[in-house]
Amino acid sequence: MKKLLPLLNPIEWLKAFSFHKKNSKYKKSSYDLELYLYSKMLKNDMLHYGYFEDININPENISIKQLEMAQILYAENIIEYISNRQDPVLDVGCGLGGLSNLIMKNNIEVEALTPNKNQIHHIQNKFKNLTLHNLKFENYKTTKKYGTIINSESLQYIKLHEAFSKANKLILPNGRWIIIDYFRLNKDGVNKSSHLLEDFHEKVREYGWKIKYEKDITNNILPTNRFINMYAERFLIPIQHYAFEKLRYKKAWLYYLTKNIRTFITKKIDKELSAINPDKFINEKKYLFFVLEKQ
Ligand SMILES: C[S@@+](CC[C@H](N)C(=O)[O-])C[C@H]1O[C@@H](n2cnc3c(N)ncnc32)[C@H](O)[C@@H]1O
Repeated sequence: MKKLLPLLNPIEWLKAFSFHKKNSKYKKSSYDLELYLYSKMLKNDMLHYGYFEDININPENISIKQLEMAQILYAENIIEYISNRQDPVLDVGCGLGGLSNLIMKNNIEVEALTPNKNQIHHIQNKFKNLTLHNLKFENYKTTKKYGTIINSESLQYIKLHEAFSKANKLILPNGRWIIIDYFRLNKDGVNKSSHLLEDFHEKVREYGWKIKYEKDITNNILPTNRFINMYAERFLIPIQHYAFEKLRYKKAWLYYLTKNIRTFITKKIDKELSAINPDKFINEKKYLFFVLEKQ
């Protein structure tokens, strides 16, 4: 019962309210919790799905090393399409700097941009020679022009008209815009985080770009989805069940009082997992690799 006392104290309620106000200022673009979580799991400074050549690989046979190798292959595929290698590259939504670092290793001038402060600190410590911009793409102002702009799984975070109008200002004549991301095929669906494919095509035409190359790589990224899904089903959900049941047997009164919190956690996990469920992904989305050229 001693543990319940703070709940009955009005001063604690006031403190809780002020704590809540302070912490609800969380800005997704400058401190993205989901991306932070993935960055702790994978150690090669990349925050995308990777590219598996073996599309039928069994998720049970995928090692962390293979996942990281798939991410490197994904990055190498992008670098292959940088044609004007003497002109600077802008890596938009650079994450932890892994792709920019590989581009730099290929002796190509590159600048990395992300609104996320933690990512900037990480890159400053790890890749000291990288030129960095800590802001949203849509807010980036410069007179500099780039031969290639890259959005590696970052276009989905930016409103399409803002991304296209910014890219038009920054691109050199005959420059390239490499975009790799997933797109929604229709308006319904569990997860609305990505752009509608038809809206993307409309903007390509409206802003005067030409699709030079396009590849559907959905099947090549799906092993990652299956891998995460398998871990969720075999570890995350059983651990959650174990923790709730343990609480029920050890502290039934607390289990009773936290019913709403437990329901909230369960719903949140369900929502996050349905976004990466491989079957739902195939039904609702396509993961596409585009190389656009300015007309
Ligand atoms: C899924 S991560 C991809 C990271 C990296 N491109 C990679 O492939 O490893 C998405 C990135 O987009 C960034 N981002 C989110 N909103 C953005 C915006 N408005 N402008 C530029 N980057 C943004 C995130 O901070 C993060 O770095």
